[in-house]
Amino acid sequence: MELSGSIPNSSDLDRFSVALQVSREQVGALYERGVGSTDSEHHAQLLAAIEDLSIAEEELRAQQEAIIEAQRELEIERRRYRILFEGAPDPYVVTDEHGTIQEANDALAGLLGVPAERLVRKSLDSFIDTLARQGLDACLRESPTGETAYSTLEVKAPDGRVIPVEATLSVLDSAFDGKRSFCWQLRDVSERQETEASMRALNRSLNARVAQRTRELELALEGEQSARKDAEAANRIKTELFARLSHEFRTPLHAVSGYLEILQQNIHGALTKEQRRDLDRIHQAQEHLMALVNMILDFAKLEAGPIELSMAEIPVEETLLGAEALVFPQFAKKKVAYTHHAGDPCVTVFADREKVQQILVNLLANAMKFTPAGGSVDLDWRLEEDSLLVRVRDTGPGIPAEKIEQIFEPFVQLHSAGSLPTGGTGLGLPISRDLARAMGGDISATSTVGVGSTFTFALPLRKHILLAPSFQRPGPPVNFEGASRTPELTLEQSTAALYDLVDDPSVFIKQDWKSYTPDDHEVWGLLYERRMNQLRKNGSKIFLKGADTIGLKKETVPDLAEVNRRLAPPTGWEAVPVSGFIPAKSFFQCLSLRKFPTTVTIRKRTQLDYLPEPDIFHDVFGHVPLHADPVFADFLQHYGQVAAAADNEEDTTRMARLFWFTVEFGLIREDGQIKVYGSGLISSHGDAANALGPKCDRRPFSLEAVFNQPFEIDHFQDVLFVTESFDQLYEAVEEAGRRIGAIR
Ligand SMILES: [Fe+2]
Repeated sequence: MELSGSIPNSSDLDRFSVALQVSREQVGALYERGVGSTDSEHHAQLLAAIEDLSIAEEELRAQQEAIIEAQRELEIERRRYRILFEGAPDPYVVTDEHGTIQEANDALAGLLGVPAERLVRKSLDSFIDTLARQGLDACLRESPTGETAYSTLEVKAPDGRVIPVEATLSVLDSAFDGKRSFCWQLRDVSERQETEASMRALNRSLNARVAQRTRELELALEGEQSARKDAEAANRIKTELFARLSHEFRTPLHAVSGYLEILQQNIHGALTKEQRRDLDRIHQAQEHLMALVNMILDFAKLEAGPIELSMAEIPVEETLLGAEALVFPQFAKKKVAYTHHAGDPCVTVFADREKVQQILVNLLANAMKFTPAGGSVDLDWRLEEDSLLVRVRDTGPGIPAEKIEQIFEPFVQLHSAGSLPTGGTGLGLPISRDLARAMGGDISATSTVGVGSTFTFALPLRKHILLAPSFQRPGPPVNFEGASRTPELTLEQSTAALYDLVDDPSVFIKQDWKSYTPDDHEVWGLLYERRMNQLRKNGSKIFLKGADTIGLKKETVPDLAEVNRRLAPPTGWEAVPVSGFIPAKSFFQCLSLRKFPTTVTIRKRTQLDYLPEPDIFHDVFGHVPLHADPVFADFLQHYGQVAAAADNEEDTTRMARLFWFTVEFGLIREDGQIKVYGSGLISSHGDAANALGPKCDRRPFSLEAVFNQPFEIDHFQDVLFVTESFDQLYEAVEEAGRRIGAIR
């Protein structure tokens, strides 16, 4: 039998099944009836036919079951599609090729304001704005089969509004009739377009505001630059005027001073008692005026440009004593008690000595000026973390809290009831603060009205050296009340700290330069010439430069006063004449104060080539030139501090080896060549020749190697060490300090 169509439906299958069953029974009947009446061949054919039919039946049954399953799955798909289609938040519509609506979901019904079922068979065109219909037609026309197209349309809403929508168009082909249908997904983009429009408007408005503000700022900047130029020009004129006026004032003031002295010395005849008293007053007024002019000149210099500093490690206590000596007479005169709380004389700070003293003089003069008779001024100092803090405390009237900062402004002077007339320019504190800041420090003030004020001058410490216990002893408090103290420091007082370091201070002597004989000068000249001829070839350039700096010359034995005058500006070191041996600990402590104990005797002509003990040629020619080099100067001072802290035999031996292989017998590599810089090599031809000759084992400098290398003093050195720079030595001594616990 034949089935209707290519795929049987359920009724076709039922009929086929019924037909098949009937046929099989009929065949069975035929078969039963034919047994015995037909021949065997006919019988076999029948059996085969029955077998074929049975197989076909099974196949058909399996196909029927597969089709039923496919139908069931198709139904599930269809239901799923309906749920998604109808429940989709975006409007969906399916049209034919002409735009006639075949299906529409609820979202579309909502957009168009027409129930979904009434949309079917209507033209989608009728809901599109007239002007946008061309876009729709183009979409329908141009979309190729199976492609997705995009367009923006405008849909008419029930309330008459035109709503912009984005349309995503998918083309569907029918497998049966070849006709195309279109699935449209529409999205209301009115809100987005409004947002975009408002963003564009905002952007335009912002751009306009930015342009306007930029123009305003440009105008303001031009104005500010012009004002600044005017102010700078005015400031320059003011500074120049100050400087010029101050100079102009100083010249006649000096003349006044000179003529006053002539009168006071009675050169033009004796003065009466009254005339003398008046002259004293004129003299005081002249000195006061000169001080004011000097201060204005200082201020003008500070205003004019960067401050020139001569920085070096300076002993704190000694520097403070030097400053207070300048103002001390005024304390006595005004009957203000002054107390100086002395600190460790060995502590140093990296600063400009003159500037530190200028600041201290200003602070002390200020305290004295504002403290009434019977009051007191105290000075003390201490190390705190990485700073040196010097404090000047007075019992003056005090400064109101809101005016504390004002006192650091130029030309500001505070007046309060009960305070004394102060005089002055109001420049002392601003100048002092500028100087302190130029050295990396600062000045601050605290005050209580009716009680007094405290000014604190802080300076940074380069490295905090923790000295050995014996070295930490505080100095005895020095009380300078009233006029009991000599106002000016003598040489002995200025080196008091040094004298404290030895049991027998008479070891420090004066160099009696005039007592050198012509033969002494000649011996010096011979030694100088012989060594210099060699050292110009194999001596360190730092030595040669230092020798020039301190003014060594062939003609005469050096005058230490002259050497020190040249040595102080670059590094603050000083060659201190000694009569002979001083104990090692004292020697190290001298180094820590930047004082180099120096022998002043000179060898005899018969000892030109060898002298067992040092003389002035070894000490001044050999050692002192290197003290003019800032890095070596720092290294040697720190060496002194660390070595002084060594308190056991092992550390003492190590530090002695470090001294021996650097300060005494050091070699340095300069421009690829090994040069001598140790004093034993600088001052001795034989030692230098050995050090650079084939018998000496020259090794790279390292602290570890030096610490472990013994030395002997009575023959040429077998092993020496070559450093790459004095920075390496500085780092080595810092490392040595950490190892022996002298530096934290
Ligand atoms: Fe030496």
